[in-house]
Amino acid sequence: MNNVHVVNHPLCCHNLSIIRDKNTSAEVFRNAIRRITYLLFYKATEDLELEDVVIETPLEKCNSKKLSNKNEIIIAPILRAGLIFSDIANEIMPYATVRHIGMYRDEQTLTPVWYYNKIPIEFNHPENKIILILDPMLATGNSAIDAIKLFTNKNVPQKNIRFVSLISAPEGLEKVQKAFPDVQIVTANIDKHLNEHGYICPGLGDAGDRIFNTVEN
Ligand code: URA
Repeated sequence: MNNVHVVNHPLCCHNLSIIRDKNTSAEVFRNAIRRITYLLFYKATEDLELEDVVIETPLEKCNSKKLSNKNEIIIAPILRAGLIFSDIANEIMPYATVRHIGMYRDEQTLTPVWYYNKIPIEFNHPENKIILILDPMLATGNSAIDAIKLFTNKNVPQKNIRFVSLISAPEGLEKVQKAFPDVQIVTANIDKHLNEHGYICPGLGDAGDRIFNTVEN
């Protein structure tokens, strides 16, 4: 799985243990995800293109580097759980464009249902767009594939697309990789399997419900 990057960092492992625990409160859950998000983005952005610049420090001129002006970074959180990532993504890349993707999962068919997307009809210079699609749970892979298609259908090259998740299921990863072998997937862990309801095991339950404190007891 060449394009799957598992961020196996001790701080990811530690914070994953916090969010997996069913007794963790929504507040603690959100904060632990935020801490993992920085580490995931370190990986997801490590090959962004740079250009040479000359900077004058208070002491002297020096050669330095800045993100290439030619690329536009697009943060695309899948609503609603992806919002937890987009706050941090926006903080570390304040010049990025945020394009929300609204879809939920039909619990019977496990297929995505669209209700909103903020993607333009066409992109100018799609080859210069860098897309970060954000969804904490890569489960069946169905929403990931639909979200990726939104961009590849508008001629964004697969290699410019990164899918960032907290936890992935092997079944979903395989499906996404088969459909889009050049898309980079960054995740904190690959769990055991999906259950019959399409939930990742051991996972953490419903990420959206736990983030937004809507777990029904
Ligand atoms: N979505 C979630 O929030 N959790 C899962 O385990 C699978 C999909």
